[in-house]
Amino acid sequence: MSDPKDFISVADWPAKALWEILDRARELKRLNAAGQRPPTLQGRTLAMYFEKPSLRTHVTFASGISQLGGHAVLLRPEQVGIGTRESPADVARALSRWVDGLMARTFSHSLVEQLAAEATIPIINGLTDLLHPCQAMADLQTIAENADVTAATLTYVGDGNNMVNSLMLLAAVLGLRIRIATPGSHPPSARVMKRAKELAASSGATIHWTESPQEAVKGADFVYTDTWTSMGQEDEAEQRRRIFAPYQVNEQLLEGAPDAKVLHCMPAHRGEEVTDEVLDGPRSLIYDQAENRLHSQKAIMERLMGFERR
Ligand code: NVA
Repeated sequence: MSDPKDFISVADWPAKALWEILDRARELKRLNAAGQRPPTLQGRTLAMYFEKPSLRTHVTFASGISQLGGHAVLLRPEQVGIGTRESPADVARALSRWVDGLMARTFSHSLVEQLAAEATIPIINGLTDLLHPCQAMADLQTIAENADVTAATLTYVGDGNNMVNSLMLLAAVLGLRIRIATPGSHPPSARVMKRAKELAASSGATIHWTESPQEAVKGADFVYTDTWTSMGQEDEAEQRRRIFAPYQVNEQLLEGAPDAKVLHCMPAHRGEEVTDEVLDGPRSLIYDQAENRLHSQKAIMERLMGFERR
């Protein structure tokens, strides 16, 4: 079976291909540590389009493509004007004549889907309001460095946002165990949950949602949290701080999972969804996750942007 053209949702990808991307990411990390950067994307260009702020995604894609021998071009929405200056279709078709891939970070998930439908080049989802699949792949790599992924229990505590949606889909495709605790008012996307349950029926994944952070954390191997106020929700920040207060990942909550490692995609709002003590303590894997963005995205770009696809 050939790969999908795009990397928009892990749910579009077969488990075998995702495990291969993980293996390659691990290999690229080993090679990098040995001072080797195979130029597998020599001469290729990645366009990067950001409607929202970015540190990790921007730097790891730019640095990743240049480590593979290619080059990145940064596009800002005010320069491109997708939907105002020209249509998503015209942008996608024009870019397809010039570059070898487009990484897009947008508010609307359907914009990324539209770009993918019109482009002949691969489109990589660099975060939408619905999903953040590249982060989930880096998280998989981080978990694999610390445990047997298929035997581990991953617990997510906090807002039912793009991050938990992506982790849930990844668990569902790969047959992993995930527990999720969010307030009833802010659950993961119902559409994503439905798709995850369908995938889980064949992969053997277990997906458990509860409102109780204590229940979800009990005995977990990894506890993951993310901001309570995602990009674009800044107006709701005050209200969200009140709603999510019982979901803070702190040492007291982690008493239920004494050996758990802690994950966070960053940026972290220290003192809100997670305490300094936890983030700076021995459980924290947050900088490994950040590092693994580089390696896993290099593996994703290689898989999507190699000449053999064209
Ligand atoms: N849920 C966060 C993730 C940031 C990487 C956001 O969308 O802002």
